[in-house]
Amino acid sequence: MEFGIRTMDDVDVAGKTVLCRIDINQPVDRKTGTLRSTTRIEACVPTIRELSDKGAKVVLMAHQGSDIEYQNYYTLEPHSRVLAELLGREVMFIPDVCGPAAIEKIKSLKNGEILLLDNVRFMAEEQTLFEKKLRLTHEQMAETLVVRKLAPLADLYLCDAFAAAHRDQPTLCGFEEIVPSMMGRLFEKEYVVLSSLMESPERPCTFVLGGAKIADAFLMMESVLSGGAADHILAGGVVANILLIAKGEKIGRGSYDFIVKSNYEEFFEKAKGLLERYADRIVLPTDLAWVENGVRHEARIGEIPDNIGAIDIGTETAETYQKYIRGSKTVFVNGPMGIFEEEPSEKGTKMVWDALGDTEAYTVVGGGDSITATTKYGKTEKISYICTGGGSLIRFLTGEELPVVHALRKGSKLPVR
Ligand code: 3PG
Repeated sequence: MEFGIRTMDDVDVAGKTVLCRIDINQPVDRKTGTLRSTTRIEACVPTIRELSDKGAKVVLMAHQGSDIEYQNYYTLEPHSRVLAELLGREVMFIPDVCGPAAIEKIKSLKNGEILLLDNVRFMAEEQTLFEKKLRLTHEQMAETLVVRKLAPLADLYLCDAFAAAHRDQPTLCGFEEIVPSMMGRLFEKEYVVLSSLMESPERPCTFVLGGAKIADAFLMMESVLSGGAADHILAGGVVANILLIAKGEKIGRGSYDFIVKSNYEEFFEKAKGLLERYADRIVLPTDLAWVENGVRHEARIGEIPDNIGAIDIGTETAETYQKYIRGSKTVFVNGPMGIFEEEPSEKGTKMVWDALGDTEAYTVVGGGDSITATTKYGKTEKISYICTGGGSLIRFLTGEELPVVHALRKGSKLPVR
């Protein structure tokens, strides 16, 4: 046991049905439904291969979210094909999570076989909005449909989904109430590395927060600022736009409309509160970029035309952020600075990643889009540690116990049958 959690070294899995929660949530091309990266799928391979080699019947549960927060859920069928190719062995897929078809399939598994169930987020109780509204306890999660249907089929529950360890949802935290539990190899690695890093991060410690997962970003900003973990936060993406508008800046009608359309208006108040308390530690863009007819334009804050929607930080801001990154001893990064997938709006993200590549600081990059940017700009070898988790990484660094860690500690106490 490490950290009070069973590891794969503590259990003989041969002939056992092991219900595994993995995180293979990848950036998806919204037009074609294809995966834009496979990094997280690759990261799960060692655990799955080991279980299968040791003769377990491996049942995989996972979610696929979207680049728009909590919308557009996709099937995991493409993921099963990638996984099969990486493993070099068959991965069965069933378009069901816990209905009769899934149950029959699980019962028919032979030793060493691998089955991937479909996206657990097709069930409302697995969705983050549901999590936040209902706040089920782990005991209550053990009563949800998915746990009631699948737990009786499982000898063991394994969680390798470090990237989702900050989520409090039934497939992550409910099974541990009734099924003997353990963590997988990836979860163990992330936990060990981050725990030791957390003991004494070298100062100054800078957080780069961008992207469009706003609820996570604001929760994290609050805790890394109030807990003292962050000396500075460099804001980009939609996070920065919300902060700028909350400060009273005019950054274009399109930028504002996007925030309203995404139901992010509630964050203006939070942003104001953060800016009042931590103005000296939150670094905001001094210029922004937008694209018209495929051409990039930039303007300083205060001079931004009313009819635009900002989709990147400007060059001056990116240069400032480069200086902070190069002057830091530790840098944590979660989220790109803009729509880096398209050439006219990639400059801010690219410049930030250039600085990450040549700073002397210990750099930690986490989260799906940030990992994609790291690969895109050829920085994989230059980043000190690439964590599969984005939200979970930042939440871990706040010092709070992650919900999945709490649940796994409990499930590790249940005797293996
Ligand atoms: C992530 O991408 O951060 C994890 O997979 C969790 O995904 P979620 O934010 O959709 O819950």
